[in-house]
Amino acid sequence: MNILLIYGSLREKSINKALAHNAVRLMPESITPTVVGIEGFPLYSDTIENTSFPEIATQYKEKIRAADGILVVTPEYNRSMSGSLKNVLDWTSRGKDLPWKGKPVGVIGASDGVRGASFAQYDVKRVLTYFGAHIMGQPEFYFAEADKKIDAEGTITDEKSQQVLSKYLAAFKAHVELISQKASIQ
Ligand code: FNR
Repeated sequence: MNILLIYGSLREKSINKALAHNAVRLMPESITPTVVGIEGFPLYSDTIENTSFPEIATQYKEKIRAADGILVVTPEYNRSMSGSLKNVLDWTSRGKDLPWKGKPVGVIGASDGVRGASFAQYDVKRVLTYFGAHIMGQPEFYFAEADKKIDAEGTITDEKSQQVLSKYLAAFKAHVELISQKASIQ
């Protein structure tokens, strides 16, 4: 099972990048994870789309298409996702096909605040629902005050958070399997 993890931050010491890498470490066996960031996209413009569709957007769409499931790891900026992540969602929704359609998707996020990027997670889910992705509703994972629970190497130090994340990932694997089975019957 190939899982693509997308973290929606451009920050070098991103807590969401760290969360994505911790998720890789805690993934159930039999999952082949790939972590990608969101660097290198131009700001979406219809003019760019119609004159020279960016190669990076084409390649990114291919990565989404090839994955069995996708885990989006979102930061929270002003009670929503980062503008840079929204930009990537916009780009990957353009062109002839919509690779998100029918994909099993999970959304998690880390913030330094006490709500664990909850508003941002809802907004990402809202957009991906519009794309026709199959979002896992439960369980959820809100990594609150993450800056206090990750060490200098980016490892989660809080045992409870590790346990809850491990359970989330086991449920996500089951979600991907379920959606994939349904798709193969149809
Ligand atoms: C934030 N931050 C933040 N945190 C939060 O819990 N709720 C929020 O609404 C916001 N809003 C916000 C706006 C802007 C413009 C910035 C730069 C930051 C703090 C944010 O959670 C923190 O910077 C994280 O470290 C961002 O995640 P990454 O980039 O480290 O993954």
